[in-house]
Amino acid sequence: MASSFSSSSAVLLLGFVLNLFLQINLSHSLTCSSQQFSSNRIYEYCNDLPELSSYLHWTYDSSNSSLKIAFLASSKADGWVAWSINPQAPKMLGAQALIAYKLDGNMTLNTFNVTSYKGIAPSKIAYEVWDTAAEYSDGLMRIFATIGLPGQMTTINQVWQVGTAVSNGIPSAHAILTANLNSKGTLDLLKGQSSSTTGGNDKLRRKNIHGILNAVSWGILFPFGAIIARYLRTFQSADPAWFYLHVSCQSSSYVVGVAGWGTGLKLGSESEGVVYKAHRNIGIALFCAATVQIFALFLRPKKDHKYRKYWNVYHHGLGYIIIILGIINVFKGLDILVPAQKWKKAYVIVLIVLGAIALLLEAVTWVVVLKRKSGKSTKPYDGTNGRQ
Ligand SMILES: *[C@@H]1O[C@H](CO)[C@@H](O)[C@H](O)[C@H]1NC(C)=O
Repeated sequence: MASSFSSSSAVLLLGFVLNLFLQINLSHSLTCSSQQFSSNRIYEYCNDLPELSSYLHWTYDSSNSSLKIAFLASSKADGWVAWSINPQAPKMLGAQALIAYKLDGNMTLNTFNVTSYKGIAPSKIAYEVWDTAAEYSDGLMRIFATIGLPGQMTTINQVWQVGTAVSNGIPSAHAILTANLNSKGTLDLLKGQSSSTTGGNDKLRRKNIHGILNAVSWGILFPFGAIIARYLRTFQSADPAWFYLHVSCQSSSYVVGVAGWGTGLKLGSESEGVVYKAHRNIGIALFCAATVQIFALFLRPKKDHKYRKYWNVYHHGLGYIIIILGIINVFKGLDILVPAQKWKKAYVIVLIVLGAIALLLEAVTWVVVLKRKSGKSTKPYDGTNGRQ
């Protein structure tokens, strides 16, 4: 009974973890290539831009040096999105911007010569722009345009932005979070390559790896290992298997967790200006607590030693703290990374499944314990390695 429990729940868990990986892949490598447009809007290239859930589709026609683009970004219906070329450098001041927003109830696209941080007004820009359109649907605001570039301009500095409000017909200032400050880069029109000035693509990939490692270890495997320890030992047939399962589950999640922790420290040391204090401190506390927990195994008094019950209290207490902090920190991390909503949903589903498994096993345990009580034994079965 016990082994069928453990193997079926392990299979279930594995399924969810695999699903999580798939979702993660989908959300960052397939997004722009899976986006489609109506009839004559066909673009040769597309880039998932590294910040602000934005995408650029484009075709460069070298015969007349025109650049046909579709820029998409997640936005509120009454917000605005901007895509611009800055002839000087990838920065805001000097940007020759195309901004889409709702004006008198209709989506509009206007050009702005951005010359000040204080305010902007629609104006002519340095390039000729035609075939313009702006659309909004499904949480995405879209800019369509063709831009005439100087013939020798084959690498452009692009700057994009998303804002939440429009007042008196003019886009209001955007937020100044890291994503809003890093939403810039260059685009090589001959090679089709896009890069962010902050190495955004590479950094995003590393943030994703950091997220996966930590969500899997602290957020999934550690709680799963605790479930094994708490419930499997109720069953005589699972002793001492539960103990070895628990130790191997927790030590492998520790290894994965430390790897994830290391990537987090590296990311943190590279993040100038922005420090995610709570996320960082919880991460450090988790690493210390888990390290103590792993090494305390070697200090565990024998089952019938008089100090064993103190060790048990400490071990279970710290274990629950690690689980709670681990889950909290996964959510804090998700809030920092702001991935597609489905990541968070996938993780919530994993937690619900773990919770359901725990609840079910809790009920089964009670049935087993009560049966035993009415029979010969007066306490739940506790084997060689059990709590006593
Ligand atoms: C944009 O503004 C700058 C500064 O005022 C000015 O020098 C430049 O000529 C303007 N560009 C266009 C296309 O009007």
